[in-house]
Amino acid sequence: MAKTSVARDEPPVPEDFYEQIEPMLYRRIAREVRDAARVLDLGCGGCELARLLASAPGKKVTGVDVDGDGFPDARSVEPRVRRRLRCVKADARRLGFVRSASMDAAVSTWALHEMRRAPEVLAEVKRVLRKGGELLIVDFPHDSLAQRLWDEDYYTPQEVRELLKEAGYAHVSVRLIQRKQVIWARAFRPLPEEEQG
Ligand SMILES: C[S@@+](CC[C@H](N)C(=O)[O-])C[C@H]1O[C@@H](n2cnc3c(N)ncnc32)[C@H](O)[C@@H]1O
Repeated sequence: MAKTSVARDEPPVPEDFYEQIEPMLYRRIAREVRDAARVLDLGCGGCELARLLASAPGKKVTGVDVDGDGFPDARSVEPRVRRRLRCVKADARRLGFVRSASMDAAVSTWALHEMRRAPEVLAEVKRVLRKGGELLIVDFPHDSLAQRLWDEDYYTPQEVRELLKEAGYAHVSVRLIQRKQVIWARAFRPLPEEEQG
């Protein structure tokens, strides 16, 4: 007898979905950059992710945000983390305080869509990444729960892919994760043999 397949609808995405997934997402980001000793967090906000990353021995983490009001009070940060963390008020388009090719990885959560002139940001981040260094962008996608909740101007995965490719990154991979509510984009500063032209 033929089996009848019952279509199972996924439950709706709850409104606090992003809060629910944040701890898991942060751990996933930490795993992604576990081998990077020097990490930049672009649009770091209150430095929560930067603090988590800086809790790993051997890491040096620089959080950058145009608005420094959310930076933690130094006394609220554990001394061993404080030694590995610095938060700098600056525009991600102008990272003059970071030496070229000095970062092993750069991460950015929920911030790319807010950054004006994203191509300039991506070019500047490429400058400070070492060759082969990774840029990981996590952001809300267009047409997602975030769109319904906050209605900001979010990118589609295809737009993020194009921005990264146009900025000259190699091994660009952009996908939707977490029930398609999160863009997970990885890209690398090309190695010399991967440089075009
Ligand atoms: C939605 S918040 C995300 C903060 C943090 N990454 C998090 O996960 O909670 C976006 C942040 O990007 C910062 N931002 C926007 N444009 C920026 C720029 N050009 N350079 C640096 N930071 C910027 C904002 O000030 C804000 O703190």
